[in-house]
Amino acid sequence: MSISHLLPFFFLLLAFSTFTSPSSSATDSFIFGGCSLLKFLPGTAYESNVNSVLTSLVNSAMFSNYNNSTVQGSTMQDTVYGLFQCRGDLANSDCSRCVSRAVNQLGTFCLDACGGALQLDGCFVKYDNATFLGVEDKTMVLKKCGPSMGLTYDSLTPRDAVLANLGALDGAFRIASSGDVQGIAQCVGDLSASECQDCLSDAIQRLRTECGGGAWGEMYLAKCYARYSERGRHSPGGNDDSNKNDEEIEKTLAILIGLIAGVGLIILFISFFSKVCGKQKGGK
Ligand SMILES: *[C@@H]1O[C@H](CO)[C@@H](O)[C@H](O)[C@H]1NC(C)=O
Ligand SMILES: *[C@@H]1O[C@H](CO)[C@@H](O)[C@H](O)[C@H]1NC(C)=O
Ligand SMILES: *[C@@H]1O[C@H](CO)[C@@H](O)[C@H](O)[C@H]1NC(C)=O
Repeated sequence: MSISHLLPFFFLLLAFSTFTSPSSSATDSFIFGGCSLLKFLPGTAYESNVNSVLTSLVNSAMFSNYNNSTVQGSTMQDTVYGLFQCRGDLANSDCSRCVSRAVNQLGTFCLDACGGALQLDGCFVKYDNATFLGVEDKTMVLKKCGPSMGLTYDSLTPRDAVLANLGALDGAFRIASSGDVQGIAQCVGDLSASECQDCLSDAIQRLRTECGGGAWGEMYLAKCYARYSERGRHSPGGNDDSNKNDEEIEKTLAILIGLIAGVGLIILFISFFSKVCGKQKGGK
């Protein structure tokens, strides 16, 4: 419903090599990152405001799975907003580790960018000088679909059950499984319950239609995501049975996902070009 409020936040999406290193814990796996094309000058108040916001997020992640931070600048342009959202099943210690890592990566990935966002498997961090806090945003950021199973239609049943459950559950973090299929869904904590529901319904619907009968799928919208996979195969939820076979499968899948993500990124590049960070005119 708030498509007209979409902020012109610009994701310069890049494929990241760390994505293909399954050796680190799943929570830290890189999913996507985006930076505004507009940069600030180092040494300015803007830079210190960005640092304050990010530091505050890192500190806050020791105590909760979601929080936001705003640092008022002397001018409106220098006011920086930020938030983080950890996956709902992470313990505070894991959340805190994930957010620290994401913030560190943002520092290099989005060097001097006036806005940036990074999604690791376990957490999402975003900052910008345009208000995005509390704004529902269903822009598709990343879609990854597994290869079609090409089996019988029966094999789709658990997937459909999982997606239906994810849509029917309540809350900002949802987990469902059926047969061999498991799924999770997560909203960013600044959405109201109804906005979260609306956002997830969209993500789930897109998984159904856009991932066809894929063995796994991930749909990341700007303020929520939903994903499902077959247990023991691609495991986005990050089960940590550190088993050699799983690692091999993960490596193969990581390469595959990389290829699929690559195609997705090209599409995003084309569809995502817009004004520079923060230069929105009020209203639509
Ligand atoms: C959220 O952050 C604010 C400061 O930015 C802090 O005062 C508050 O305690 C934090 N909330 C939680 C639940 O950690
Ligand atoms: C964000 O910061 C940039 C760089 O200082 C500035 O050009 C832009 O107008 C700012 N956006 C807003 C909404 O203040
Ligand atoms: C931002 O954080 C504060 C403090 O935790 C909270 O009261 C407020 O509701 C949050 N705002 C949004 C938009 O999430």
